[in-house]
Amino acid sequence: MRVAVLTSGGDAPGMNAAVRAAVKLCAREGLDIVGVKNGYEGLIDGAFEPLTPRDVDPIGAYGGTVLGSARSTRFRTPEGRAEAARQLDGRGLLVIGGNGSLTGAHILHEEHGTPLVGLPASIDNDIGCTSFAIGVDTALNTIVEACDRISDTARAHRRVFVVEVMGRHCGYLAMASAVAAGADACLFRESGKDEDTLVDELSEVIDRGFGPERGKQRVLIMKAEGVEVPTDRLVRRLQARAEAAHAEVRGTVLGHLVRGGAPSYQDRMIAGRMTVSALTALLNGRHDVMVGWQPWESGEATA
Ligand code: F6P
Repeated sequence: MRVAVLTSGGDAPGMNAAVRAAVKLCAREGLDIVGVKNGYEGLIDGAFEPLTPRDVDPIGAYGGTVLGSARSTRFRTPEGRAEAARQLDGRGLLVIGGNGSLTGAHILHEEHGTPLVGLPASIDNDIGCTSFAIGVDTALNTIVEACDRISDTARAHRRVFVVEVMGRHCGYLAMASAVAAGADACLFRESGKDEDTLVDELSEVIDRGFGPERGKQRVLIMKAEGVEVPTDRLVRRLQARAEAAHAEVRGTVLGHLVRGGAPSYQDRMIAGRMTVSALTALLNGRHDVMVGWQPWESGEATA
């Protein structure tokens, strides 16, 4: 079998480690492999680049994706997918990406019988059937480090900080990092709370935190991007209510900073091991599946 590998959607640390593993495994099995530039956009354009172990030697340590990525609108059309299937010309496809990218892969398989296997990669950790997606661990480490730094300056001034992290539709990053960073509150879209309720509840958290019983020097509030109230407005409203506690409120939006950076050990490791399973599934004719990471059955391909 000839193989193609692409990365699609939002980049995630560890995507390169997966590409590297795929190329090395293909070389070991004597298989021809190409990298597809810029996700499904490059697939439609036939932007393929032959890859050898020499080409990918250092990339496992790099953040982002050396293949490039895109959110392709052309691939959402039947014509775009037909052209993508034609360009593949029977090659087996490894798709490394998030929900939208993996759904696109599934549709490509349904429409054209394209042999393909998906690998979950998205910092948001919003993909089913896997406890971790590639990129999540690095993103969490970045957030926790940022919160520790912010806490240093917050304690020096006895301040409240609202820290917003990525996660458009999913509050996992905010929730998991809140636990690890010792936050006082966590806001996520899934709770469905309205703005006034949030302001009331957070004001209580601030009063309690700085009150005589707790005697805190900083109050940390994690906020997922998906929460509709903008961070600057929330900060203004909390500031107005925090006067009594003589506290100052500041906001920091971490944004894309959370998505970049060298992958952690865990992201490199799960990327490598899931790639072994993905390629094995592809070669064994087990197509239209996604490989998942479950600590108790690591590397098993799950439909
Ligand atoms: O899908 C991952 C994600 O990081 C979301 O959390 C975020 O809302 C989005 O990507 C940002 O996408 P873009 O880089 O296209 O602005």
